[in-house]
Amino acid sequence: MTTEEAKSKIQKLSEKIEYHNRLYYQENTTEISDFEFDKLLEQLQKLEEQYPELKDPNSPTQRVGGAITKDFETVKHEYPMLSLGNTYSKEELSDFDERIKKLLGDEPYEYFCELKFDGVALSILYEDGELQKGVTRGDGKKGDNVTNNVKTIRSLPLKLNSDLDKSKVKFEVRGEVFMPKEVFANLNKEKQKQGEALLANPRNTASGTLKMQDSAVVASRKLDCYCYSLLGDDLNFASHEEGILFLEELGFNVSKTYKKCNELSQVYDFINLWEKKRNELPLETDGVVVKVNKLAHQKKLGNTAKSPRWAIAYKYKAESASTRLLDVQYQVGRTGAVTPVAILEPVLLAGTTVKRASLHNANEIERLDLHINDYVFVEKGGEIIPKITGVDLNLRDNDTHKFQYPQVCPVCSTSLERKEGEAVHYCPNQDGCAPQITGRIEHFIHRNAMNIDSMGEQTVKLLYENDLARTPADLYKLTYDDVFQLEGFKDLSTRNMLEGIENSKSIPFEIVLFALGIRYVGKTVAEKLAFHFKNIDKLMVATFDELIEVPEIGDRIAESVQDYFSIDKNKKLIEELKSYGLQFHINESQINNSGSLEGKSFVISGVFESYGRDELKTIIKSNGGKIVSSISGKLDYLVAGENMGPAKKKKAESLDITILDESQFKELLNG
Ligand code: IVH
Repeated sequence: MTTEEAKSKIQKLSEKIEYHNRLYYQENTTEISDFEFDKLLEQLQKLEEQYPELKDPNSPTQRVGGAITKDFETVKHEYPMLSLGNTYSKEELSDFDERIKKLLGDEPYEYFCELKFDGVALSILYEDGELQKGVTRGDGKKGDNVTNNVKTIRSLPLKLNSDLDKSKVKFEVRGEVFMPKEVFANLNKEKQKQGEALLANPRNTASGTLKMQDSAVVASRKLDCYCYSLLGDDLNFASHEEGILFLEELGFNVSKTYKKCNELSQVYDFINLWEKKRNELPLETDGVVVKVNKLAHQKKLGNTAKSPRWAIAYKYKAESASTRLLDVQYQVGRTGAVTPVAILEPVLLAGTTVKRASLHNANEIERLDLHINDYVFVEKGGEIIPKITGVDLNLRDNDTHKFQYPQVCPVCSTSLERKEGEAVHYCPNQDGCAPQITGRIEHFIHRNAMNIDSMGEQTVKLLYENDLARTPADLYKLTYDDVFQLEGFKDLSTRNMLEGIENSKSIPFEIVLFALGIRYVGKTVAEKLAFHFKNIDKLMVATFDELIEVPEIGDRIAESVQDYFSIDKNKKLIEELKSYGLQFHINESQINNSGSLEGKSFVISGVFESYGRDELKTIIKSNGGKIVSSISGKLDYLVAGENMGPAKKKKAESLDITILDESQFKELLNG
């Protein structure tokens, strides 16, 4: 193929892909199957690899990410990104309307109502019909250039319709980037499975995702964007509505929830309607934005330093309930962190009965000035656990009393400590405080860690109370008699338990590392460290600089790893576990190029029992295999874990691709 031919082929393919992308994401219809779509994308990817000089920065292949941004460039906004005045009451809204009426004199005006989407503001610049830049709000005057990440948002056009009037194609679109509620829930489910800390809410997750360095990870996070305004010097529109219609025509994702209102009563109707219906939307919304529609009116009304005078946000009250605070209990975790938990009189809130709420730490209790027996307001925001937002002081009576945050550990009475700059109290008695000791063992045996499923929380407590286990290493010393004499144990359960412990000796190094419970070393981090350093001895002596060289390992993790290995007791634990035969190095037969997968291509899908996804990828690659992202006729194997999407399975079956389950994959690997 000549370069000219390649160029024309790349262009045709790109247009075709974007056409189908638009149909799918903007018009909710399809003309081709997923398989045919992936095939087109793959052809384009190949051509771009062959002819890198022909690669267009707005090629549809950018949607899958891959570009890494080390430092985000700062970009000055052409039009400042203002914020909105807020109101929580209809009276204030009516005051707003009065102000508008007065400032516009006798001119009739209309409102354009939209929902207030709870995400992250984004400015997207288009020039000559193409997406040029995506910039975060930043401080309103300048933000970060996150273009590579923005291009992975599939509903945002990379190129605009070519028959567009070119004079209108230099403009700025403003929108709200969000993570759909469903995507967020799935992400947290996955995190829970992996034993990683859960994400607090979709908004913060969207914001964090948009600032990630690796755009391929951003692509996997499936962000979306609702566009809500259009700015440009040469647009010649008379109203906000015209801008919105123009955006829709160009294929931007505009939420169909908007409504033009001729009078305030219609605005109230809109507010009331969506107060009930907003839970049905795919994203979180926290209110309504009321905008004066005519641009001439907007201009006349102008802006204050912070916000436009022509718009206001009416915020819905978060769903909240009032109930009595019966008690505050303190939980001590395996790291010694003390967490206060509010015990409440059960109350119905957003469809569930709430009996407990998180209180975070002593500062929070102080801030709220909580008394036992107070009536408190409980809210369920985007957060998973409800929280107390305030005290109903009108109902405070003689029955209530202020309480002291404990000075000593509620379990072992050791004086609590608070590290500088941290809000949380810790019990420093690591070796003598029962919940810390049992917590470490519980973490060690957990399904996500050493997976000793013949034991549970109760057994760990029994072992502790009977002086049989103080550290995970003690489990490997247990004899038949030790276990058999425990309450509730018979012959079979004793043998099962010992067998479970024995079997755990073959659990791979990266999981053992996670099981140790080093602070901030979740499953993914443990995998990264294990595969990088290959064995515990190298990891134990790694310098701070060597640690932060590992992709995605930051200062905080590096410090925590170093702290852990500087403690004699931990070194002794590892020596003991080693002596019992646990795995402390990456299994060379798996990793060191047996070459059994040489030249074969793999798609992996779903979740796996004995491998993390990154681990599986590393194993495939280090044995000569190749990971590809989509299923095509040329694929050799689809490795199917649990919860694989049915569409993938169907596609692989229709193409006669060999599907391997986890154990079949192991067989293949071991030749
Ligand atoms: S218009 C002058 N429309 O709310 C600001 N903003 O508090 C004009 N937001 O930064 C913004 N939904 O991130 C507008 N339908 C909507 C919105 C919306 C959410 C966010 C936006 C903005 C913030 C202002």
